[in-house]
Amino acid sequence: MYFEKSKGFPENFLWGSASAAYQVEGAWNEDGKGISNWDQFVRIPGKTYQATTGDKAVDHYHRYKEDIRLMAEMGLKTYRFSISWPRIYPNGRGEVNEAGLKFYDDLINECLKYNIEPMVTIYHWDMPQALEEAYHGWENRQIVDDYVHYAKTLFKRYGDRVQYWITMNEQNVFTKHGWLEGMHPPGKVNEFKTFYQVNHHANMAHAKTVIALKEMYPQAKVGASFAYGPTYAIDNKPENAMAKADYDDLNNYFWLDVYAYGRYPVVAMKYLESKGIAPQIEDGDMEILKKASQLVDFMGVNYYQTKTIEYNPLDGVQASHEMNHTGQKGTAKVQGVPGLYKIPFNKHLPTTDWDWAIDPMGIRMCCREITSRYALPVIISENGLGAFDKVEDGQVHDPYRIAYLKAHIEELKKAIDEGCEVLAYCTWSYTDLLSWLNGYQKRYGFVYIDREEDENSGTLKRIPKDSYYWYKKVIKSNGEEL
Ligand code: BG6
Repeated sequence: MYFEKSKGFPENFLWGSASAAYQVEGAWNEDGKGISNWDQFVRIPGKTYQATTGDKAVDHYHRYKEDIRLMAEMGLKTYRFSISWPRIYPNGRGEVNEAGLKFYDDLINECLKYNIEPMVTIYHWDMPQALEEAYHGWENRQIVDDYVHYAKTLFKRYGDRVQYWITMNEQNVFTKHGWLEGMHPPGKVNEFKTFYQVNHHANMAHAKTVIALKEMYPQAKVGASFAYGPTYAIDNKPENAMAKADYDDLNNYFWLDVYAYGRYPVVAMKYLESKGIAPQIEDGDMEILKKASQLVDFMGVNYYQTKTIEYNPLDGVQASHEMNHTGQKGTAKVQGVPGLYKIPFNKHLPTTDWDWAIDPMGIRMCCREITSRYALPVIISENGLGAFDKVEDGQVHDPYRIAYLKAHIEELKKAIDEGCEVLAYCTWSYTDLLSWLNGYQKRYGFVYIDREEDENSGTLKRIPKDSYYWYKKVIKSNGEEL
């Protein structure tokens, strides 16, 4: 829509930035922390770029005070971070690790000292390895109880100070990479039936956690964060429009509808049943999903790119289980599901060095869709640019990141003018960090960290980039000065 004048961002808008425990903390085996599935997975040869690990990461565990002080100087309103489950429960369940609980107490208190609202992600992919060994983690329904027990421990300890809770980070991504693509733990490929079962377990864990939180802290705000890639049909051929509908049902609404409505999309379920890969749903599950969907306060959106969809014939392109993890532009491949859809590149959009489409309007699409389809407020829990950065005379000039963020914030502002209720915008990421499979060279932060792929490289010194100073002005002007 076109509005002559923008109303701008609301007064109490939460300008934020984000991180995740495994990607920043390091201290992988300190103070009683248990081993996570990622601690294990990164040690399998060939899994990560140049065999990088999060053993040390960017040492946020020891340097969080310095990091939060920089946030305060920037004027950050909210810091989204995740809690490492094996730091709290080294074995996933059973005895709690007081040193782990204390670390997050200190982290939360440090945020509050500077009036930075802590936004806590309960699960950002690092599951206790003990649970993998005991019962294959998410594959077993037992994880629902263990997850809820872990989450309740967090609510008991931090619920008096933490208002915003995110149950799951990108359930669609960690399950797809874990059970279909072999790229995340447990590294399985094309295990479709298990994939849908795992997702049902994760949905139940999310739902029961939402209900538990609201029983303990009715005022708390809770939702899940979804990796949302809105779609365009490649053209106006009806078969391509139908392929887009298929893609959305199976890749977007399959999660969004559960979080917001407590149900699976009808067409997607018919398809799964026809293939014999639908999840086993127990009596009472759908009621629990429904109840939780009525309690969630927002939809968390991690937005990076849109997808273009085209019909893919039965003898068409398959998933190649490959991605561009090197930053060598142009090496990504077109992927698809024969008989349904494929995902060609969008020739109208520029791409990053890792072949991710850059489409600022997509962030508005996310907000619009969530507003129209679900009538839920939105928290942008991630948005950012992974790029090669370099230090020049002790400074990091990243005009490309500023341009990227500026364009996305402009579109977000339009979404707000259009009536979307947007509560927060968290960039990805605050400091540079381990980009899972892409090592440390794919940098996202406002704050450069002096380290490279090698564990012993660099001083871990923090250097605010140009984008740091730019975002400081954005926050100060409440999004007016972009
Ligand atoms: C999201 C994750 O998928 O995107 C983050 O929640 C991740 O943890 C970010 O780092 C960017 O992805 P990548 O693969 O470039 O690190």
